[in-house]
Amino acid sequence: MSDGLEGVVAAETVLSEVDAAGRLVIRGFSLDDLAGRTAFEDLVHLLFEGFFPDLPADLGPALGAARAQTFIQLQALDTGLLDLSPIEAVRALTARLPDGDDLATALRLIAAPAVFTAAVVRAQAGEAPVRPDPTLCHAADILRMMRGRPASGDEVEALDTYLVTVSDHGLNASTFAARVIASTRAGLTSAVLGGIGALKGPLHGGAPGPVIEMLDEIGEPANARAWIEGALARGDRLMGFGHRVYRSRDPRADALKGAVRRLNEGASIRPGRLAFAEAVETAALAILKARKPDRSLQTNVEFYTALLLEAVEFPPAAFTCVFAMGRVAGWIAHSREQVAGGRLIRPQSLYIGPQPRKAA
Ligand code: CMC
Repeated sequence: MSDGLEGVVAAETVLSEVDAAGRLVIRGFSLDDLAGRTAFEDLVHLLFEGFFPDLPADLGPALGAARAQTFIQLQALDTGLLDLSPIEAVRALTARLPDGDDLATALRLIAAPAVFTAAVVRAQAGEAPVRPDPTLCHAADILRMMRGRPASGDEVEALDTYLVTVSDHGLNASTFAARVIASTRAGLTSAVLGGIGALKGPLHGGAPGPVIEMLDEIGEPANARAWIEGALARGDRLMGFGHRVYRSRDPRADALKGAVRRLNEGASIRPGRLAFAEAVETAALAILKARKPDRSLQTNVEFYTALLLEAVEFPPAAFTCVFAMGRVAGWIAHSREQVAGGRLIRPQSLYIGPQPRKAA
């Protein structure tokens, strides 16, 4: 038995390949060639090709219309939901969408985390939701709906790069959860809900919020070593470091660091913030290497995700929701692939409990 199913191949996929050497391929394109060059709408198209018969060449207008349609669901945004964390509120709102396997369902599900997160973040700050503008690209509309004002070109490009970078990543925990559910033929909404549930955990998509907490607690580079040593001595994990598959640097960390650098050059990020984060990263990598010489613990996607999402003004409590805005595309494509070619996923467990005894 493999603990945590490490190394077990549980599906064949044409969607993405995660290589331990630090390479991510999405449908035949390296992430280095996609991030910053391909719009999120085109990436969704790439992932969906062959899985929906009626896929239009330009997904932008259909996705814009799906955002407008999904906005209607916000009638269900009651005060009870606003007491939840943003990802729990988004999960609850998504659960109200009907199940289905067609393109309309898929586009509604891509729109859902975008529209719901923006509205929940605003409502929790006492502000009314902003209606989607179907003529904008997905990234521009997300920032506009969340902040109530148009975003700059640099900011839209940064969020677009982020959504593309996290759109798919092999058989990660949330994608596996979505595929298991899809394999029962439950439908895309159920599969996406399973994905959201798995993504929420701090070992998967819940890490970038705590990265900001770590940076804020460290405060200045001189404190980094002592803070990190203290955290590891308590048995804590450093959020934004380590990966199940990558044994060298997570290529997504570099793609996002590039986007954060461009924001820095355009002065769209707090002065000194990037240099400070780099100093913390350097200290963390040195300490992790000294403590775990046999396990290559490198920066993962979540470290620079935190900086990027902070710069475009998402509150840390909503970072996992933004991850869902990108990864939902992968969950849907994998679910369709599972239904098209896969059987019911039903592994075995090894019973290690007591053997039957005679009842007294
Ligand atoms: N900080 C400190 N120690 C670590 C870390 C870390 N970030 N990551 C792994 N280790 C240690 C771990 O304690 C273990 O030590 P020991 O063998 O003495 O018990 C050893 O390295 C191996 O860890 P593991 O738990 O067997 O590794 P895994 O493959 O199950 O864990 C991980 C992968 C991502 C869950 C883990 O590295 C981690 O918890 N990282 C912090 C959370 C994080 O950044 N999550 C985002 C992951 S990337 C986004 C995504 O694709 O989901």
